[in-house]
Amino acid sequence: MDTSVSAYNENTHVESDQALPITISGLTKRYGSLYALNSVDLEIRSGEFLTLLGPSGSGKTTLLMAIAGFNRPDSGSIRFGDSEMILMPPHQRNVGMVFQSYALFPHMSVAQNIAFPLKLRGVKAAERLSRVNEALETVQLSGLGDRTIDQLSGGQRQRVALARAFVFRPRILLMDEPLSALDKKLRERMQIELKQLHRQLGVTTVYVTHDQREALTMSDRIAVINDGLLMQVDTPEIIYNQPVNAFVADFIGESAMLPLTHTTNGILEFGGQEIVQTPVSGTDRTWSMVIRPERLEIADKQAVPNESLIVFDGVVRESVFQGESAFVLLELSDGTELSLRAGGGTDSRAQRLQPGEQIKISMQRHDVIVIPAGQE
Ligand SMILES: Nc1ncnc2c1ncn2[C@@H]1O[C@H](COP(=O)(O)OP(=O)(O)OP(=O)(O)O)[C@@H](O)[C@H]1O
Ligand SMILES: [Mg+2]
Repeated sequence: MDTSVSAYNENTHVESDQALPITISGLTKRYGSLYALNSVDLEIRSGEFLTLLGPSGSGKTTLLMAIAGFNRPDSGSIRFGDSEMILMPPHQRNVGMVFQSYALFPHMSVAQNIAFPLKLRGVKAAERLSRVNEALETVQLSGLGDRTIDQLSGGQRQRVALARAFVFRPRILLMDEPLSALDKKLRERMQIELKQLHRQLGVTTVYVTHDQREALTMSDRIAVINDGLLMQVDTPEIIYNQPVNAFVADFIGESAMLPLTHTTNGILEFGGQEIVQTPVSGTDRTWSMVIRPERLEIADKQAVPNESLIVFDGVVRESVFQGESAFVLLELSDGTELSLRAGGGTDSRAQRLQPGEQIKISMQRHDVIVIPAGQE
């Protein structure tokens, strides 16, 4: 298989009808007493790559299937552009879909699989042939049209499923964990290829994954979902740097939470050290501080807190060399565990740390993230 990263020919011209925004409001889907979707409001912009990110059972597939029309929500609205879709059958929605399992037809050839949606739409044979060839070229499978599905590798099958999803020029492309069956290396390569394909097609794309790194890599925006509730919808940078609650902070990236206490003068502190002004309206609730490992640094033994620096005392529990970086597990005086990632090349101090050693660690005050404590 071709191993270049840029597998898609940027010159291949695949027309898509004008991309459409999707407006979801008050969408609720219940299975008995379980809310698979709980009053979901979500605006997906025209042409954007939006990722639905959440743990297993959070409602990702349910939401995607509702957009595609394969399940009927109990209440709410789904609009494509200005048109209400909620009662429209799937085949009239003009949505391309890659399912959680590829759902290819095993008894058909690659070309027949890709031609299938065109056939359904009554596209004539000659036009079908040229569109299938164009799609094969776009996913770099030219020449493999006559193979059967079981003669393909996992990554190739994945491309066939993709080609079948966009060959009929849908206005909206939905993908449900399309890369989950692939090994890590191929998955990372396909992530980049899917991004390129999205740029090329310009189609509004909703992508489902439970892999936070994949979501951060691929998305224009990420919608974090848990128990059928949307927790936060924003760019990867904001989701990572300004999570709105403990669930998002914990689900996206490594983090430690430090419980903060109120001082009488409107400041939140930890271990006697003033951390940050209490957020407005936040005086009667409890707050935590989120700490990302890569924001921490090993400080000099004499380091003291100042206007720009927060300093903690810690005891080294474990220090692990990981090639390009070192991973250090620490315990603060109150028993909280923190981890720290230090660049291997420049910060050799991190690699010499011994378990039991007393050290000081610091972080920039402007890197402080404060969130409501618990799962608010
Ligand atoms: N047909 C069904 N009948 C009953 N419960 C269902 C049905 N389909 C889904 N559910 C439940 O709805 C919730 C959401 O399911 P959904 O398939 O949307 O999760 P998901 O986020 O896609 O998870 P995964 O990452 O495992 O694919 C789950 O608790 C699931 O058990
Ligand atoms: Mg699912």
